[in-house]
Amino acid sequence: MKVLFIGDVVGSPGRNVIKEYLHKLKGKYRPDITIVNGENAAGGKGLTDKIYHELKHAGADVITLGNHAWDKKEIFDFIDNVNDVVRPANFPKGTPGAGYIIKNVGNKKIAVINGQGRTFLPPIDCPFRVIEEIVSEVKKITPYIFLDFHAEATSEKLAIGWYFDGVVSAVVGTHTHVQTADERILPKGTAYITDVGMTGPYDGILGMDKDIIINRFLTSLPAKFEVSKGREQCNGVFISLNSKTGLAESIQRISINEDRPFFD
Ligand SMILES: [Fe+2]
Ligand SMILES: [Fe+2]
Repeated sequence: MKVLFIGDVVGSPGRNVIKEYLHKLKGKYRPDITIVNGENAAGGKGLTDKIYHELKHAGADVITLGNHAWDKKEIFDFIDNVNDVVRPANFPKGTPGAGYIIKNVGNKKIAVINGQGRTFLPPIDCPFRVIEEIVSEVKKITPYIFLDFHAEATSEKLAIGWYFDGVVSAVVGTHTHVQTADERILPKGTAYITDVGMTGPYDGILGMDKDIIINRFLTSLPAKFEVSKGREQCNGVFISLNSKTGLAESIQRISINEDRPFFD
């Protein structure tokens, strides 16, 4: 089982990158499933029905979310009608949408779980315990379990990685938008990276216009963030899973930008 995962797609620049590179990346890596984090896909915050279809059309099989899941209110109109959008599982019971899905890939199945950290983010349910409950259910169905853990603190992401080592196939971090160079396979076989990085503007600050953010730091005054323009980047990971154990055989970072161009 081969999994291509693309980190937080930010606004229209991110969607442009997806349209330009997703088919190229699929041609290069031949993934069985392509998962895209879309929490920032609509104007930098949230996901709309139109943009959901845009990402699907560009080749995303599953779209994961995060703390910005609810920023575009129309998500509530469609999240319960689709079977390929996953929001953080540890939102309180009764929250719309699903915290995990099981996707058919040929004659195999893979579970895709989205979780969210609680450090420097709103205090929702315990991700460790909620994910553990989900894992115990999906283990009955498939050995392939992919977790997008959306969190701010590197410590919380590492803790989730170690807690689920040997239990899930992969733990990939999202949310902080800066790719970390710590990809590895943990001792019991789980692929891990603290943050996959974002997809969209290359010259902004986490995808937002840098001048607005710098001014915010200089003045401490409130400011409306805008998605940055100009050069673009694509960040992700490619993970291979063992067909018997579901555990990882390799994890490779993908980082495409003007300083590191794409090669077939
Ligand atoms: Fe994000
Ligand atoms: Fe986020």
